Amino acid sequence: MMYDVVAIGNPVYDIIITPFVRSKGRVLSGCSVNALLALRRLGFNRVALIGSIGKDYLYKIKEDLRNFGIRNFALIEADTTCGFELVYDEKGDRTLKVLGLGSKITSHDIPDEYLKAKYIILGPVLYEIDYSLIEYVATASDAKVLLDPQGLTRRIGKDGFIEHFCDCRSLRRVAQYLDFIKPNEKESLFITGEVDPFRAAKLLVEWGAEVGIVTLAERGSVAFDGELFYRVPAYRTVAVDPTGAGDVYAGALIAGLLEGYHLPEALLLASAAASIKVEHCGPTFPVTRAEAERRYYAIRPSLEVYESPPGNY
Ligand SMILES: Nc1ncnc2c1ncn2[C@@H]1O[C@H](COP(=O)(O)OP(=O)(O)OP(=O)(O)O)[C@@H](O)[C@H]1O
Ligand SMILES: [Mg+2]
Repeated sequence: MMYDVVAIGNPVYDIIITPFVRSKGRVLSGCSVNALLALRRLGFNRVALIGSIGKDYLYKIKEDLRNFGIRNFALIEADTTCGFELVYDEKGDRTLKVLGLGSKITSHDIPDEYLKAKYIILGPVLYEIDYSLIEYVATASDAKVLLDPQGLTRRIGKDGFIEHFCDCRSLRRVAQYLDFIKPNEKESLFITGEVDPFRAAKLLVEWGAEVGIVTLAERGSVAFDGELFYRVPAYRTVAVDPTGAGDVYAGALIAGLLEGYHLPEALLLASAAASIKVEHCGPTFPVTRAEAERRYYAIRPSLEVYESPPGNY
């Protein structure tokens, strides 16, 4: 099979607690999973997943993935299933406590035919993808590669809580292999040292990425493609559970590009789809093409394009 999108990164089973909701036990999540769920719901069937899973969740994940229409996967058996307990405060800030580690992903875990995909999403949650794997995937494949650096910007700290950490030199070195890098606001500050997200996106491109994107939750996102800067509006809504917004954003961005959209239109679709995710907790979020397109048209008039960083963030 010729895949449209292969997502690499450990699936997680998380406990999520926000001021609005509490998940029922551990629920399926993770960048790779959420991005593929968005793609499936936007009509793309030829997708595949690579990641590790503990024996305790092996049966469950196969059932979950099949139920959600993800029929192709290469699962690596690990001692434990990766996952976090995420607790959000009223401001939307969150703490993460590790529930399980999962295992690292190596080049041997990636079937050759997966490398022939049109797009590859690298979505580590807890450094299960290392820099040499990024380099391997990007050079062994003709795919366009998107990196969500989330799992490369954290480590396990005191009492199992996640703290920020980044081998920024290595990240900077692999940027040359990447088509898209998409940190959120905090990750971007950590990686680039730039407070202004436009300048941060520009730095990512100067390091070698084709496109730099910084997401800013309810304030939308910004992107730079080496020529133009985009300020992408968010669709106004109430965030019941913001977990996975960035992941759905990645999936829908690629859905748009596969559809033939130009970058700014694909960014708008990404923002539209991600706003649906934040209204729901867990993997059953109802992204549909009709609703994503409706929100896309609602926010499109507010897209702003600049030739240089506007400098007002
Ligand atoms: N409260 C919100 N209302 C509307 N859209 C939102 C909201 N939060 C996030 N989004 C959309 O989702 C995108 C990604 O969100 P965010 O910056 O929170 O990513 P993230 O921190 O990587 O999320 P996660 O790691 O939980 O997947 C934003 O750029 C925006 O388009
Ligand atoms: Mg994220």
